[in-house]
Amino acid sequence: MTTAALPRTAPSRTAPPAARTAAVIPAAGRGVRLGPGAPKALRALGGTPLLVHAVRAVARAREVGLVVVVAPPQAAAEVRHLLDAHPLPAAPAAQGADVVVVPGGATRQESVRRGLDALPGEVEIVLVHDAARPLVPADTVDAVAAAVRAGAPAVVPALPLTDTVKEVEPQAAGAPEPVISTPARARLRAVQTPQGFQRAVLAEAHAAFAGAGEGATDDAGMVERLGQPVVVVPGHEEAFKVTRPLDLVLAEAVLTRRRADGY
Ligand code: C5P
Repeated sequence: MTTAALPRTAPSRTAPPAARTAAVIPAAGRGVRLGPGAPKALRALGGTPLLVHAVRAVARAREVGLVVVVAPPQAAAEVRHLLDAHPLPAAPAAQGADVVVVPGGATRQESVRRGLDALPGEVEIVLVHDAARPLVPADTVDAVAAAVRAGAPAVVPALPLTDTVKEVEPQAAGAPEPVISTPARARLRAVQTPQGFQRAVLAEAHAAFAGAGEGATDDAGMVERLGQPVVVVPGHEEAFKVTRPLDLVLAEAVLTRRRADGY
């Protein structure tokens, strides 16, 4: 579906070095757990759609020269207009990132694959970032990109867990669930995005595991299945995913604090 790509600027310019790093932002989810309403990526946070926050967050990172937004299939034109109405602030580097919109698929995995298909040939490093993580700091994005540039095939930002985790035998909602195991908490990490990849490695993973059921919710997991090494770098507590209504309350509070701090 790359023909449906709606470029903001003509893609004919000579790519600067930064364009070798691109971000794919899957934003095609319905956001059912957030309650009824518009697709999650289009819901407002501080008066601005989640997706716009997420695009700005990755575009603020020095390395990113291109952002591919994967929109809900029925709302690609709406998303294009939305992004045009919320232009990126002037980039700290000499050039701003281009933003392209493509329609997404039925699963996150399919949406990411469509985003990858829209990347031009010169892109060597890909960051995949959930639209649902609107407040990821630019330093986290830079750290992931730098680790890939330093040679890691796949890099994941993650945090230690505060809760202990148990593996269970799932039952119907509300029914007691037998515990199978309690993994040692110190060895567990809660994974965030952006996840960073050598483009060729991620493309190989998506080609190898295409179209299975509900699809992968985690790109790095697909790379692990390829047998390629994946490393974790420190994530950030403000890179949390907005999934449930309480997450939106927290996100509003973080944004209010940032604005008070002049961020
Ligand atoms: O559903 P979940 O919270 O795991 O979604 C993570 C990200 O993947 C969200 O930004 C969502 O918009 C995106 N997604 C997508 N296409 C889908 C399902 C989810 O782009 N079919």
